[in-house]
Order: sequence, then C-alpha cells, then structure tokens
Amino acid sequence: MRCFPCHTPHELDESNPKHAKPIATHKEMVKKFGQKINIFRESPEATLRHLMISSRRPRPDKSPLLNVADPAKSLLVLKPTSKLPKKDADGKFEKPSSGEPVSHMGGLKMHVDDQSYKSFVAWIQDYSRVVGDQYASAAGQLVSIEAGTQADACS
Ligand code: HEC
Repeated sequence: MRCFPCHTPHELDESNPKHAKPIATHKEMVKKFGQKINIFRESPEATLRHLMISSRRPRPDKSPLLNVADPAKSLLVLKPTSKLPKKDADGKFEKPSSGEPVSHMGGLKMHVDDQSYKSFVAWIQDYSRVVGDQYASAAGQLVSIEAGTQADACS
C-alpha cells in the first residue's frame, strides 16, 4: 500500500530480494523516528489497538492518531495529506510537526479527494460510532481498507 515500506513492518519479507531496499529504508526510519513509525501492525486488530492506545494519551504537541470527535482531524489522515517539513538555512528538513499545521517526513501520500482518503475517514467515522463494545466489527472494516489501499497502489 502507499504507506509501504515506512509504516508496514509486517509486509517486509527478508526472503524476497526485491524487499532488500525497502527493508533498509524501514530500518533507517525506525532508527531515526522510533517505534511510532510502525503504524500498521501484524493484524488489523493489532493496528486498531495501537491506534486506540496512542490516541488515548492527549499530548499538546501531537494530534491523536484517531480523533473520534472529528475524524478528519485524525493524525492518521492528516500526516499522509501533508507535505514534507520546510528546509532550514542549511538545506536540512525542520522537525516534522504532529500538531496543526502538520508536516510529514513521508511527504504527500494521499489527496483529500482520493478514494483511500475517503475510506480512511469513513472507517474512523464508523469506528467512532462503535467505540467501546463492537470493537471487532471496526477491525473487520480495517481489513477492507488495508486491502483497498493495496489495490490502489497496484492500479
Ligand atoms: C517514505 C516513507 C513514508 C511513507 C511512504 C509514509 N510515511 Fe508516514 N511517516 C514517515 C516518517 C519518517 C514519519 C515520522 C516523522 C513524521 O512524523 O513525519 C511518519 C509519520 C507518520 C504518522 C505519525 C505517527 C506517529 O505516531 O507520530 C502517521 C499517522 C503517518 N506517517 C501516516 C502515514 C500513512 C497513513 C501513510 C500512507 C498513506 C504514510 N504515512 C506514508 C514516512 C512515511
């Protein structure tokens, strides 16, 4: 999917020679930015758990990954629809911002009129409605989003 290889450690296959470069890229990202880079986990349920746990800790410098009150303000969709940070006088990127206005070290990966953007936001809206007990059905929909973004990348 479009978030490969930076956020998709479980899609990296050491036995596939074509993955050598993506694996190196992912390693470099983890070294630089830490475990938060591993957004998409080993299963949709694990991804959802990570997104939920991270979003429960409010932080002044970081929008929640999932914003239940206002889905379009979720960092999960703000990041990939944001550009790279500005460069400083030495030509180095400034620190990426996770509060608005957001910047993304992965650069622009989605437009707000893309189908994948719409499915991410729709999924967060649905998830917001079922937060709490119907957790499993929200995870089920995440499977179709992940499959959908993969299809986008192949088209
Ligand atoms: C080429 C690598 C790359 C790609 C592809 C990429 N990103 Fe990122 N992304 C990064 C890096 C590096 C960071 C950490 C620095 C930052 O916050 O911008 C990041 C940060 C994020 C964060 C913040 C995570 C946190 O907890 O702080 C989110 C959310 C995110 N990306 C979503 C996405 C989504 C969704 C996609 C695919 C549609 C995507 N990114 C594609 C490199 C990438």
